Amino acid sequence: MKKPRLLFSAEEIKRVEERLAEEIRRDYQNKYPLLVSVLKGSFVFMADLIRLLNLPLEVEFVRLSSYGKGTVTSGKVRVTGGLRSSLKGKDVLVIEDIVDTGLTLKFFLDYLQQRKPTSLKVCALFDKAPRRQFPVPIDYRGFTIPDAFVVGYGLDWDEKYRYIPDLCILEEENEPERA
Ligand code: PRP
Repeated sequence: MKKPRLLFSAEEIKRVEERLAEEIRRDYQNKYPLLVSVLKGSFVFMADLIRLLNLPLEVEFVRLSSYGKGTVTSGKVRVTGGLRSSLKGKDVLVIEDIVDTGLTLKFFLDYLQQRKPTSLKVCALFDKAPRRQFPVPIDYRGFTIPDAFVVGYGLDWDEKYRYIPDLCILEEENEPERA
């Protein structure tokens, strides 16, 4: 049996998001950024962040076609969703829920860079830094987290637990209940 154990409460997450929103708002004054969220995990973060930002902006959602994690990618990852082919004149901010090995973000940043945005930055709520294999820039970082399997706040295990408002570590429940 697996059991989620609290790591960061919804209140703690909100406080960190307010700090991130302040940093982003300061840097994007008088710009009209395009926030691009990589589905599925980041949909909760994206929805909360844009409401804290209080800044005129646009949003896009993309899905990256699956490829085996930890395997060498052919570079042929497909991006599906509403992303326009040219990003000329756009200040693009990628919104990620979690950066783990960095493989997804590395691929996606290369993909976006080819579309020639005016600027390209990254906001990631959770940085699982001990797992990094591919160095990637994170301009706005929420939490640095340990190498543990986390769920909740949009993150899943086998499509479960995305709805939990807190971030939790998913643990094996092998200890018998104490009387
Ligand atoms: C998660 C997360 C990132 C990626 C990070 O997505 O949203 O996109 O993993 O991992 P990496 O740094 O090792 O590439 P996931 O593949 O779990 O899909 P989901 O968001 O649809 O659940």
